[in-house]
Amino acid sequence: MAVATVAARFGLPCVVYMGQTDIERQSPNVFRMRLLGAEVRPVISGTATLKDAMNEALRDWVANVEDTFYIIGTVAGPHPYPAMVRDFQSIIGREVREQMMAAEGRLPDTLVACIGGGSNAMGLFYPFLDDTPVSIYGVEAAGRGLDVPNGHCASLNGGRPGVLHGNRTYLLQDDDGQILDGHSISAGLDYPGIGPEHSWLRDTGRVTYVAATDREALDAFQICTRLEGIIPALEPSHALAYVAKLAPSLPPSNLLVMNMCGRGDKDIFAVAGHLGMEI
Ligand SMILES: Cc1ncc(COP(=O)(O)O)c(C=O)c1O
Repeated sequence: MAVATVAARFGLPCVVYMGQTDIERQSPNVFRMRLLGAEVRPVISGTATLKDAMNEALRDWVANVEDTFYIIGTVAGPHPYPAMVRDFQSIIGREVREQMMAAEGRLPDTLVACIGGGSNAMGLFYPFLDDTPVSIYGVEAAGRGLDVPNGHCASLNGGRPGVLHGNRTYLLQDDDGQILDGHSISAGLDYPGIGPEHSWLRDTGRVTYVAATDREALDAFQICTRLEGIIPALEPSHALAYVAKLAPSLPPSNLLVMNMCGRGDKDIFAVAGHLGMEI
């Protein structure tokens, strides 16, 4: 969506590779991209999700480097994309810092964000990494359960280091290093890898990586909508699910910031299907 918007603004042709599965479960976004003039190319290889779309986009790019600029919205892929996307997205953490200081006169105690490739999380976390009293949690997709083979996308909770899409990071892979399919109810978290800087933050212990299941995310989606009047995207619904678990264990004075990184209008058709509701 962001790439299609920028391309429309500057009059550039825009090709978006998107897995067929994601085209179906994110149909409002596909419609918006087409309205903006982008060509959305369906990818049907593999599980027809994000990993497969990235394969095709990178293939196109390496074949057309003379006149094509590759854009990815997450902190994964070859250098300098992880660093570049992190630096742009860090506006989130910088604003949180500023606004929290203005509102409360001190830094937050706890940060929580969902992790697909890890950009919204990195954007929130990065400006706080040196503030060690701030506890930081990244929430991966536990899908149908962390113990279900090919049933989740929690690369830090169930993967091991390897190389994919030009970066060395934790990946869901079999004994031969073949990438596993993985699964998440949310298109944005349905990726068997993670940005390499998160792998480092896991290994150093600075950030704690947990996971929420499809079911927990769907419940959190409904609770947030009913109680807050905010329809969240399915991706941050995973972070919301973890907040619901974590918050009761924290003192009332704890200042917790969760990154509500997307709204749920793109997901309402998919959610209706999962809840057995008519639209
Ligand atoms: C609303 C939303 N949140 C989160 C994500 C996950 O990406 P990242 O981990 O890079 O923030 C996506 C990915 O498409 C998304 O659409």
